Amino acid sequence: MCDNKRPETMERITTPELANAFIEKELAALRAQIGDGKVLLALSGGVDSSVVAAMLIKAVGKQLTCIHVNHGLMRKGESEEVIRVFGEELGANLIYVDATDRFLDKLAGVSDPETKRKIIGGEFIRVFEEESKKLTGIGFLGQGTIYPDILESDGIKAHHNVGGLPEDVEFELVEPLKFLFKDEVRVVGKALGLPDSMVYRQPFPGPGLGVRCPGAITRDRLNALREADAILREEFEKAGLMGKVWQYFTVVPDFKSTGIKNGKRSFDWPCIIRAVNTRDAMTATIERVAWDVLQRITDRITHEVEGINRVLYDLTPKPTGTIEYE
Ligand code: XMP
Repeated sequence: MCDNKRPETMERITTPELANAFIEKELAALRAQIGDGKVLLALSGGVDSSVVAAMLIKAVGKQLTCIHVNHGLMRKGESEEVIRVFGEELGANLIYVDATDRFLDKLAGVSDPETKRKIIGGEFIRVFEEESKKLTGIGFLGQGTIYPDILESDGIKAHHNVGGLPEDVEFELVEPLKFLFKDEVRVVGKALGLPDSMVYRQPFPGPGLGVRCPGAITRDRLNALREADAILREEFEKAGLMGKVWQYFTVVPDFKSTGIKNGKRSFDWPCIIRAVNTRDAMTATIERVAWDVLQRITDRITHEVEGINRVLYDLTPKPTGTIEYE
């Protein structure tokens, strides 16, 4: 299938100049493909969909409609950033759907990891379909497919992401990044003027914080997890670890232990910190985070996050642990 093979003559995009040349050529190709048609894009705010959105906005402007579905399992500030960057700064047609209640109601009481993933994936498709049916004249569907997705069609994304996008819709696919590797997507994103917080974003699973809130998700534990994650990210950034450590996050498991908070006995959750490095996510090693950084994070999480009274550091490489907890 030569359509899905990176041209041998294609130079690796490593500099802003090469990125600009790629962007210029790709914008012309997008305009030729789309003409005066209308394009729809599911914009999660991850690196790939963000870069596709920025390219399509440049190529066809208001002929693009982006749908951002907030499934209630986003990290702190993530949906707000999508709205600010794409809706306000880049002036995209952006439909924002806050489907938090819908997802969390469906997930209530569900503790099996695969069932949780299926509910999240299935509900995502339904919300996206409902929204797209309200639009008329859409001929194209933008997708953030990148080259590793094609090379490893049974790779991590394909393995994990239950569902994907609806199959029964008859849109022609628009995939401007399909021959790029992740590092090239980042160089292109930077050249397009996207903020570093989007371009250098660490991988974030489709089911979001749902797989870091093991067992049946409750709103209060999910909130504690989101706040703890925000503190971890802030402190890693301050310590110069953002962009250096491959993936770092918190997990708030579903059990409680005793503690003392504000002079009173507490019975609260622990928070687990995971910080790993890897090349391909198939194996991973543990980042040796400096003790004082870990102590500062522990201090902040236990004092600032309601419902958490302990912080633990996960020393387990992959294997034997997976990177995520579910
Ligand atoms: P595990 O936990 O299997 O994760 O060691 C390997 C990498 O895959 C990410 N991951 C996902 N990515 N959808 C995704 O696109 C998912 O459902 C999903 N689950 C895990 C994980 O964050 C890690 O980078």
